[in-house]
Amino acid sequence: MGLKILIVGSGGREHALVWKIAQSPLVEKIFAAPGNPGIAGSAELVPVPVDETSRIVDFAVKQRVDLTVVGPEAPLAAGITDDLTRRGLLVCGPSKAAAQLEGSKVFTKNILAKYGIPTAEFRVFDSFDDAEQYVLTHRLPVVIKADGLAAGKGVSVAGTYEEAVAFLRDVMEKRVFGPAGERVVVEECLTGEEASYIVFSDGEKFVPLPSSQDHKRIGDGDTGPNTGGMGAYSPAPVLTPEIERKVQREIFEPLLAGMRSEGAPFRGILYGGLMIERGAAKVLEFNVRFGDPEAQPLFMRLASDLVPLLMQCAQGKLTDAVMEIDPRPTVCIVMSSAGYPGPYRKGDPILGIDEAEGLGGVQVFHAGTAIRDGKLVTSGGRVLGVTAVDDDIRKAIARGYRAVEKIRWEGAYYRTDIGKRALQRDEV
Ligand code: AMP
Ligand code: GLY
Repeated sequence: MGLKILIVGSGGREHALVWKIAQSPLVEKIFAAPGNPGIAGSAELVPVPVDETSRIVDFAVKQRVDLTVVGPEAPLAAGITDDLTRRGLLVCGPSKAAAQLEGSKVFTKNILAKYGIPTAEFRVFDSFDDAEQYVLTHRLPVVIKADGLAAGKGVSVAGTYEEAVAFLRDVMEKRVFGPAGERVVVEECLTGEEASYIVFSDGEKFVPLPSSQDHKRIGDGDTGPNTGGMGAYSPAPVLTPEIERKVQREIFEPLLAGMRSEGAPFRGILYGGLMIERGAAKVLEFNVRFGDPEAQPLFMRLASDLVPLLMQCAQGKLTDAVMEIDPRPTVCIVMSSAGYPGPYRKGDPILGIDEAEGLGGVQVFHAGTAIRDGKLVTSGGRVLGVTAVDDDIRKAIARGYRAVEKIRWEGAYYRTDIGKRALQRDEV
């Protein structure tokens, strides 16, 4: 009998997970809660939202699923792993205690400091007055972070004192992110180039995926407000093999050992958001899950079966087997609704996905899509992740954009410079 696997989430990352897992000969059935129309092609959708964790757990128990894989951070921070484990089920995702690495910036900064892991200098405040006083003496730009989860909006890199104090007031006094703003981290602004480094961990060992790079701002040239991510590519040449070894030795090894000493071993997917400058890497943040959109280009390069890796993580015993990776680079271009990351249009019919995939070497992952009157329409900010593979990064980018040009809906938006940094690096 093959495995029954439950995927929690509904974004492009979860579509990529399901796409990859569906290729495994070990798998008999995939469920997705709640999933999306792209996922529906390979999985049975379970109409339960990700924040209703007790209903998800009940479903997993009733169906006797062999493995649950949690896409987004909120159910992990809420303790879905502990609940599933208590009911005797396997889950790939950290415990509530270990998920604090994403759920609390204060927790993470204190762990980094305690175990001597490189990160920006920082101070923690729980009073607005003290924080304001400190911020006004800090060099600009200054970085302010709400302690808790804030759907990716809890960080300000402030260029002026007015901006810094206004953000501090929003977070700590107006509580725009609720209890996430009870405490803040104020830290120095790091410069350099960002990269994402994502590993599978069983609490002791880790097996890394290749490097990748996200594009967080809405506009070309990294301008405008932050988003969930407008595109990603892999590998990220900024993470040279030498820096990668340092990242493993100076960041991931001591962190995993530290989490064990804290009594919160990290089992699951650990994502390091790194800033790289002059051969050194510092931690910007950790996420306790796959990146979105980084998962899309990463899974397209992963030649090995993903399922044994996810199972071994969940069981707490990763083997030393090396992952097989397609050497060819991949690029994911996110197409979003007009207005995103602000209020955006919804309900516009989407055309051209089949033509895009017909180019070959292209997978179109769904995120904010829905079916209305039998037609595929937009229903979220980030709508599709158009992902392409080719022999070199320049060709992968060109293939990705050729695919994007085949897809249309009213007000479709995308950045035109995804992967450009890798190209510039190639040319030097
Ligand atoms: P975080 O959620 O902590 O990763 O912050 C989101 C984004 O803010 C990061 O991806 C960076 O682009 C930026 N950021 C966070 N911390 C810093 C820092 N200390 N210096 C510069 N940029 C930062
Ligand atoms: N792409 C950034 C994230 O998943 O948080």
